[in-house]
Amino acid sequence: MVGKDRFTDKVAIVTGAGGDIGREIARQFAREGAVAVIADINPEAARETKGLIDGDGGRSLAVQVNLLKSEEIRSMVRTVLRKCSRIDILVNNAGIGERSTLLETREEMWDLIMAVDPGSVFRCTKYVAPEMIRQGGGKIVNIASMMGMIGMGAPSYTAAKGAIIAMTPIVAAELGPHRINVNTVCPGFIRTKLNRDMIATPIGDQIIGKIPMRRIGNVSDVAALVAFLSSDDADYINGAVIPLDGGMGRFLDLGEDYRTYDPFRGTKE
Ligand SMILES: NC(=O)c1ccc[n+]([C@@H]2O[C@H](COP(=O)([O-])OP(=O)(O)OC[C@H]3O[C@@H](n4cnc5c(N)ncnc54)[C@H](O)[C@@H]3O)[C@@H](O)[C@H]2O)c1
Repeated sequence: MVGKDRFTDKVAIVTGAGGDIGREIARQFAREGAVAVIADINPEAARETKGLIDGDGGRSLAVQVNLLKSEEIRSMVRTVLRKCSRIDILVNNAGIGERSTLLETREEMWDLIMAVDPGSVFRCTKYVAPEMIRQGGGKIVNIASMMGMIGMGAPSYTAAKGAIIAMTPIVAAELGPHRINVNTVCPGFIRTKLNRDMIATPIGDQIIGKIPMRRIGNVSDVAALVAFLSSDDADYINGAVIPLDGGMGRFLDLGEDYRTYDPFRGTKE
């Protein structure tokens, strides 16, 4: 257990908490006193997360839910309220992706990514926010991606994460008067099972060379920011879209020759 107890007796739903990033977010909430609700379609992965939290002495509730289905989300909300009485935090973390060019992208895959990524953010927020309004406030954190901010990755995934980024300020404006903060985190390359193997190849070194912090992010980097945004310390942060990419997404490296070339040379004394 860590010393800080920012979430004592709070109830935090983390979608996709059977996956690497969601698991660490859920564990962080539980370490700081929350009941972590592990909402995932994959019951085995959810059980694994629950086992880790229980092993740490934390409190958790695993709920199997297909976030494509509104009825399952509404049933999850009812289950959480029945067992935990309240919902203070919602982290819309579940997401899927792919690696196709536009010409290779299958229409079914485009539709699925849109339905899971921004679709689940829409549906979960729609069915959880009324409860937060009743309670007098709450915190909602979405997980988008650096790839939703810049031209990188598959068009489907970029568009899906871009939709989450685009909806953030307007949803924040709607829910802000109810004391509900809505913010979005955009991770860059994070060490997860999805890209662990790739990072171990020379591609990993190429990527690290383009990250100003010269390292791949860790799941704990994401969990730390999500926990901060879910805490009272972030009460005045609303509608923010925050890159978490070691600085990678907002500069263009034109190479050493460009960096060292001085176009004002001739004009200097
Ligand atoms: N891994 C990275 O480097 C990285 C970078 C930027 C953003 N992200 C985003 O972070 C989030 C988590 O990524 P991850 O690497 O932990 O992914 P992951 O694949 O390990 O975990 C995603 C989880 O979501 C669940 N899920 C998928 N579809 C679902 C559905 N219909 N209903 C319920 N649950 C469903 C899966 O079962 C899985 O447990 C995703 O939104 C991803 O796009 C990841």
